Formats: sequence, structure tokens, C-alpha cells
Amino acid sequence: MPDKLAWIEEQLKELREQGLYNTIRTIGSAQGAWLVVDGRRVLNFCSNNYLGLANHPVLQEAAIRAIASYGVGPAAVRSIAGTLDLHRQLEERLAHFKGAEATIAFQSGFNANLATIPALVGKEDVIFSDELNHASIIDGCRLSGGRIIRYAHNDAADLERQIAQASGYKRAIIVTDGVFSMDGDIAPLPAICEVAERHNLILMVDDAHGEGVLGRGGRGIVDHFGLHGRVDVEVGTLSKAFGVVGGYVAGKSTIVEWLRQRGRPFLFSSAVPAADTAACIAAVDVLERSTELVDRLWENTRTFKTEMKRLGFDTGRSETPITPVMLGEAHVAQTFSRRLFEEGLFAMAIAYPTVPKGKARIRVMVSATHSHDDLDLALSLFAKVGKEMGVI
Ligand SMILES: Cc1ncc(COP(=O)(O)O)c(C=O)c1O
Repeated sequence: MPDKLAWIEEQLKELREQGLYNTIRTIGSAQGAWLVVDGRRVLNFCSNNYLGLANHPVLQEAAIRAIASYGVGPAAVRSIAGTLDLHRQLEERLAHFKGAEATIAFQSGFNANLATIPALVGKEDVIFSDELNHASIIDGCRLSGGRIIRYAHNDAADLERQIAQASGYKRAIIVTDGVFSMDGDIAPLPAICEVAERHNLILMVDDAHGEGVLGRGGRGIVDHFGLHGRVDVEVGTLSKAFGVVGGYVAGKSTIVEWLRQRGRPFLFSSAVPAADTAACIAAVDVLERSTELVDRLWENTRTFKTEMKRLGFDTGRSETPITPVMLGEAHVAQTFSRRLFEEGLFAMAIAYPTVPKGKARIRVMVSATHSHDDLDLALSLFAKVGKEMGVI
């Protein structure tokens, strides 16, 4: 009998040969500017812990207190016996923080997209989707069964053209990332919003990398552009700048109410545990109390980006703390990342299929936790490896 798994072995071999095999590194410490990775203490430049909340004492304490009161497991899905008063509090606090009519919390940002898109569109409908949208949006679109029409990246004029050419559908939605996770550029939301309003289409933005980063005190992309009340659905994550885990949808109360009835991960997958929910509420407390962490994040971002450009690196079209260091071929990016690691700096290579072929890069994530010394050390190591490899 032939080996029914032989094709997988062949694919894995090919990935290794092409430098596209994902090496999973193991973290042996709390998140922060410095980490223990595969047993070594290294300077961390690749977590989504933008504000350092993943190991913040206020969040830790809230989580510990919640475990003492509520235990560890949710024991049910939200719609049966899994909705705690903490979930309700978190949803109210997030709605207030975002200036939105209502919010609904999910287990992750990925789940929030999987819940929302199929709840809003189906087989007879159309989704206008930016060609570089995140995988969770793409999967949500596929799951809906709707016709997916891609428009050119961040191009509101092409979006308008695609809408004009499409016909024979019942309902339609426009969906875009707010901050694009691999390039760090920002969607032109005011222009997209105008298109949506002209055609009376639902507008949905995934602000996973804008939460805690853009807008006043980290209130996100809608706040950044002053578009309150004009974006129907804002998907957020609590797993990046918020430092914990979870996702949510903020927007019109009618949509939030509908997602409580038809958002499948809300109905069919267990709730986020009390400890994480309490830690998320504490994250909102920290963000509402002061803009200090968000301000520091942007100060570090400006310093790092300016100096990387001065050294001669190509940092693409980023406008946010996500800083791609463009290197081209996957094997170059992997070798660069490995050399940085040998020098004590943790910054992962990203290659196809996460980014297009030939556009491999090191994706640097700047954080509020980095000190001036950390930034100086990182810049000197990038310069060292960059010169050694002939990149600069
Ligand atoms: C744009 C975007 N949306 C959604 C997600 C998923 O968020 P979560 O990690 O909370 O599932 C990510 C995470 O990488 C993301 O970058």
C-alpha cells in the first residue's frame, strides 16, 4: 500500500529546501524587551506586546484576583452559561473607550472576523476586500460563501471601480485591515468611508494593529481619522497592544445584537476565561488613565525608523511601529534573522505565504518597553549583520 502521508513529507522537504520552513522558537520567560528564547536571553524585537501590558503588574493582579473569585475555566459558550459579569463589564468598558455604540467580545481577533463576515453576508452577496487583508478576514470571507472581489491595496479609486462593475448581488460589504500587519501601512479609511457611504455599503475595518497604537491614547483607527459613527464594524484584538488574549467587535448596536444571535464562535466555542477577561478590563484602565505608554511607543518607533533609514535599510511603506526590513529572498531573510539571533537579537524572518514571494523581510516590532540602550543595541546589531551580508 502506498504511504498516504508521503505527500506531506515531500511538501515539508520542499519548504526546508526553499528556506520557507517555519522554525518555531520557544519562549521561556515573561514577555518584555528581553526574553529567554530557546534557552538564551535575547533582546526582543518581534512581539506584538506594543505597550508592555503582557506582563504589566496591574493586569497580573487583576487576573490573579479573578482566578480566586471565578476559577480558571469558562465551562460553557457565551450564549449558554459562559457569560460572566466580567464579560459584560469588558464590553461596556470597550464601547466607552472606543466611543462606539456597543461591543461584543470574542475569544480572539481571528474568531471575531470568522464570526462577523458570515453573519453579515452570504451566498447571494458580495465582499469588496483589500488584496492584502489578513488571513482571518480572507477565511471569514470564504466561510460566508459570498462572492469575494479584491480591490488594489489601499486604493479607494479601484474600490469604487470594482463596486461600479459588480452587479447581481443582494447585499455587499467593504472590508479592510486598518494597519496592515506585514507592511505597517494604514488604510485610507476616510476615502474608503466616503465610497461606502456613496454606495450605501456596510464598512468593516480590522484594527488589530491599530488598537492601543493609533488614535488618542490608543483608541484605534476610527479615532485616528475622527470617523466615529461612520464605520459600521470595527474588529479589535485584545491579544496585541492590550497584552492579553481575545477579540471584539465595536460598532452599531444593531450589528452587535445580531452577532450575539448569529456569531458562530460566540454560540459554539467556549468563552474567554475570567482571568483573561479581568486582565483586559485592567488594560482599559491603564490606557484610560494615561497616554504615557502610547507616547513612549511612538517615540521609540520614530527613533528606530529614522536610524534604520539612516543606516541604509529599506523599511518599506510602514507608518506605524511595525517595521519591515525588506530583504527579498526567503533564504536571505532567514540567514539575517539567524545571524541576529546569534548576536543576541530576536527578530523573525517572514516569507511566503505570509508575504508575497521575493518580498521576504525581517518584521521588527518596536515596543514601549524598549529603553534607549535597547534601541541603540538593536541598531548596532542590524548595522553589523547588514554590512556583513552586504545588505547595506
Ligand atoms: C489584521 C489582523 N487581524 C486579526 C488578527 C488575529 O488576532 P488574534 O491574534 O487576536 O486572533 C491578527 C493577528 O495577527 C491581525 O494581524
